[in-house]
Amino acid sequence: MDKYKILFVCLGNICRSPAAEGIMKEFVYKEKLQNKIEVDSAGTSGWHNGELPDKRMRAHGAKRGYNFNSLSRKFTQNDFDKFDIILAMDDSNYGNIMRLSLDLESQGKVFRMVDFLQKLKHDHIPDPYYSGAEGFELVLDLLEDACEGLLEHIKSRIK
Ligand code: 4NP
Repeated sequence: MDKYKILFVCLGNICRSPAAEGIMKEFVYKEKLQNKIEVDSAGTSGWHNGELPDKRMRAHGAKRGYNFNSLSRKFTQNDFDKFDIILAMDDSNYGNIMRLSLDLESQGKVFRMVDFLQKLKHDHIPDPYYSGAEGFELVLDLLEDACEGLLEHIKSRIK
């Protein structure tokens, strides 16, 4: 059976979405679902193509035991065909993704990451780029909570 494919999307693909990718990969690994679920991330801007995640994001992730090591790439129209679900970090990312969609099937794959929050409440995953340490910690708190909810949602869809 084809793997269920998840794509996390933010603006630069160097802070929020690579962190979501790293967290989700860890959760998938812990639940031994690596042969059923695939995880990737992309940015709507392409400004940081080929770069590792932001040093601050990597350092905050490492403190929680994560290794954020994916290389930044730009979101493309092909991603609608490649992935089963696409998670936008904020409303601006959501709008930019939707603008590239050509059909209802593609649009039906796009959700906001905060839709899957379980314990915490927030209307978007805030861009930490110009924030201090607390901004990065908040992003990780929100992503851990939403990844947990998202994995539960996906587990009910895979055999
Ligand atoms: P991200 O954060 O969208 O979570 O990767 C940002 C990274 C870079 C920039 C903005 C946001 N930037 O302006 O370069």
